[in-house]
Amino acid sequence: MPSLQEQIQQFEQEINAFQPATAAELEDYRIRFLGAKGIVKHLFGEIKTVPAEQRKDAGQLLNAFKLLAEQKHEAFKDLSETATAKGPKVDHTMPGIPLPLGTRHPLRVVENKIVSIFERIGFSVATGPEIEDDWHNFTSLNMPLDHPARDMQDTFYVSSNPDWVLRTHTSSTQARILETQPLPIRVICPGRVYRNETISARAHCFFHQCEGLYVDKNVSFADLKQTLYYFVTEMFGENTKVRFRPSYFPFTEPSAEMDISCTVCGGSGCNLCKHSGWVEILGCGMVHPNMLRNFGIDPEVYTGFAFGMGVERITQVKYQVNDLRLYSQNDVRFLRQFQGI
Ligand code: PHE
Repeated sequence: MPSLQEQIQQFEQEINAFQPATAAELEDYRIRFLGAKGIVKHLFGEIKTVPAEQRKDAGQLLNAFKLLAEQKHEAFKDLSETATAKGPKVDHTMPGIPLPLGTRHPLRVVENKIVSIFERIGFSVATGPEIEDDWHNFTSLNMPLDHPARDMQDTFYVSSNPDWVLRTHTSSTQARILETQPLPIRVICPGRVYRNETISARAHCFFHQCEGLYVDKNVSFADLKQTLYYFVTEMFGENTKVRFRPSYFPFTEPSAEMDISCTVCGGSGCNLCKHSGWVEILGCGMVHPNMLRNFGIDPEVYTGFAFGMGVERITQVKYQVNDLRLYSQNDVRFLRQFQGI
């Protein structure tokens, strides 16, 4: 039979090694060492078997042992407090704390709307690089180096390579499609574009476009008008009127700008339409024969139309956003207004 000292030593080792992971383990420990029939009680009872002259030392050992056993229990008290009914009361039926969800950016929502309207009539979606070479952004689109129309778009050049620009329009993606895809082509190209403009309520150094291209045999200006009219009625409602004004783009001939009847005043005159009753929403035209030739397409056999619109502009007209800067300031008070549109 081991002496009291030996027993204490052995139990001390056990206590030191003890690392409970659950409240149940801790409770087993409490019962085993500190319970009414536990080891601590039992060893105190054993003291009477110790010879009288050693009792004082044995008593001190026992007190230290009891303290050790209690401290271990205390150190893991958190386990039992969170898990047992004796701990602080947690009402598991209480509703949770809601985590605020983000929303889709209004420009993305409107871009998705534009894309899905054109997808419904057979357009597919194409994207291209934001850093473009001169050929795809300008030259192939009937804008050779000395073409004055290059000044229409204030271009950011990439300093490490004079042939590279930040694309000024997504027509560059259309050029890439004409280069690689077989005819007929019916494609819509959404994406971010860049122009060297001073940032204000009405201009920004980057914005977003959706440009469309349709090339096939017998494509006419009437097809262009009907396609865009369909887009307008889907986006702005049945009663929206459209009008085309002659314009100029180097890559289309003839070219036009399209206005729609003002979505705010319906035509009677307001701030959005500057009291004209009409708001301009896009540029368009029949693909220039030179551009088709640049991609090895015979303009005597194939014709096409193209159009390009700014997603910010469509969003402004549809939801009356009056400052372009709001789109990139990430103010949640602005963004939340578009929840569920
Ligand atoms: N690429 C033109 C622009 O960015 C828009 C456009 C596209 C006009 C296609 C006509 C035809 O301004």
